[in-house]
Amino acid sequence: MKILAFAATNSRTSINKQLLQYAGSLLADVEFELIDLNDYELPLFSVDKEQELGQPELAQTFYQKMGAADALIISFAEHNGSYTAAYKNLFDWTSRIDMKVFQNKPVVMLATSPGPGGAASVLAAAVNSAPYFAADVKANVSVPSFYDNFDMTAGKLTEPELVAQMTQALATLTSQ
Ligand SMILES: Cc1cc2nc3c(=O)[nH]c(=O)nc-3n(C[C@H](O)[C@H](O)[C@H](O)COP(=O)(O)O)c2cc1C
Repeated sequence: MKILAFAATNSRTSINKQLLQYAGSLLADVEFELIDLNDYELPLFSVDKEQELGQPELAQTFYQKMGAADALIISFAEHNGSYTAAYKNLFDWTSRIDMKVFQNKPVVMLATSPGPGGAASVLAAAVNSAPYFAADVKANVSVPSFYDNFDMTAGKLTEPELVAQMTQALATLTSQ
């Protein structure tokens, strides 16, 4: 089973990426690939740029990578209650290739932030809009107060309830 994961952010020190590395460490007997949105940076989307550039190769590669996976794990960073500009930009370009961006894949959606809200607003936006973009969301988990609940040295969640939520969420992908 091939699982593709990415943090919906372009931070080089992303806490969402760290959360995904931890998620990957919990998965046994799967091919886990964690990609970095910095490798998919595109000009700011506009219909004018689209006329100029068409469907950029990086958007096509991103779309094809999702298509080649059996399941996706996405961890959302929250900027001002919503998606990061980096993710939204890549998403907009990709949606012009196919509005069914997630190609009916089973998806686990995660989110974390340093604050008590745990990026729950952006997570809710992603979960609620998932059907429009052909994401079959199997589970979602928000991790609040990341630095209190995650051991940066060990690369692990420490709060048992969150560990349980994460384990259960990941099982929805691997137990099929
Ligand atoms: C422009 C900006 C806006 C932010 N807005 C929010 C917010 O609305 N909610 C929140 O919980 N954290 C917010 N944060 C803090 C982010 O959660 C924090 O930077 C986190 O590390 C982002 O995830 P990442 O490290 O995976 O990119 C914001 C940070 C920035 C730079």
